[in-house]
Amino acid sequence: MITKEQPAEQREQWRRVEQVFRGKYGVIRELEHGGQSRVYCARRSSDGKFFVLKHIQPGSGVDVEDNLRILSRLNHPQIPRLEEMKVRGEEAWLVQEFFLGDSLKKVLMDNRRMHTRLPWKKAVEWMLSACEPLGYLHSLQPPVCHCDVKPANLTFRVSDRRICLMDFDISREITAGKVRARHMSPAYASPEQKQLMRIDTRTDLYSLGVTFFQLCTNQMPGEHWLHWPLPPRFQDLLDHCMAPSPNVRFQTVEELRQELLKLL
Ligand SMILES: Nc1ncnc2c1ncn2[C@@H]1O[C@H](COP(=O)(O)OP(=O)(O)OP(=O)(O)O)[C@@H](O)[C@H]1O
Ligand SMILES: [Mg+2]
Repeated sequence: MITKEQPAEQREQWRRVEQVFRGKYGVIRELEHGGQSRVYCARRSSDGKFFVLKHIQPGSGVDVEDNLRILSRLNHPQIPRLEEMKVRGEEAWLVQEFFLGDSLKKVLMDNRRMHTRLPWKKAVEWMLSACEPLGYLHSLQPPVCHCDVKPANLTFRVSDRRICLMDFDISREITAGKVRARHMSPAYASPEQKQLMRIDTRTDLYSLGVTFFQLCTNQMPGEHWLHWPLPPRFQDLLDHCMAPSPNVRFQTVEELRQELLKLL
């Protein structure tokens, strides 16, 4: 809600966002302020329903047209539905379904602060849940590669305890030609994505592997010393996920899912 106590600059920003949709939504609070976008929680005035309003700023490098085409193809219960979108040149405002919950990044940060980690079983269950929206994306024709799977883009939804996948800013459709990543989160990107080689859906399996490693250990792969060494069966699965060559990796989400089930 816009109040007099807010810094003038912020008040102006929120007002601008509200004006884009002619006052249909009222900004409640800012969820995130990244380099390329600002993400707000907003409320629809007509019925009080919550939404996420994302402002993709000019110069973000996000291909707004690609993004809109991909988002309008998606229909899965663990992916926020696109309610509406406004595009002005390189700038875009998306209105998406709001999922109440915590990003896995927040869960990891909380655990780190409290010197604890997720129980193994829970980490496996969360990965199995994340396989649902990711498998769906890969099953589309043409397949959609998320390209930015990481804890910050996965949210634990409180209402049904499922893991939801968000942020399709740099997702790509895998077509016959050469598809390269445009941007990436280097700590989670596969070698082929980092080297700007041809990518396909297997790059997401690598990033999901890094995410799983982090969920299990609260650390990133490659750190010398692990507070919580992994059980050998977990290590084998992770090696398979994070194999540098995509041909040696799990080839599909379903292959990974079958192996995850064996860890329960
Ligand atoms: N539909 C949603 N429901 C609930 N929370 C959301 C939703 N979309 C985004 N969020 C929260 O806002 C955060 C930022 O959103 P998002 O990942 O889309 O943008 P971003 O990371 O700022 O964009 P970029 O990766 O381009 O910088 C997410 O990590 C998540 O916690
Ligand atoms: Mg994000």
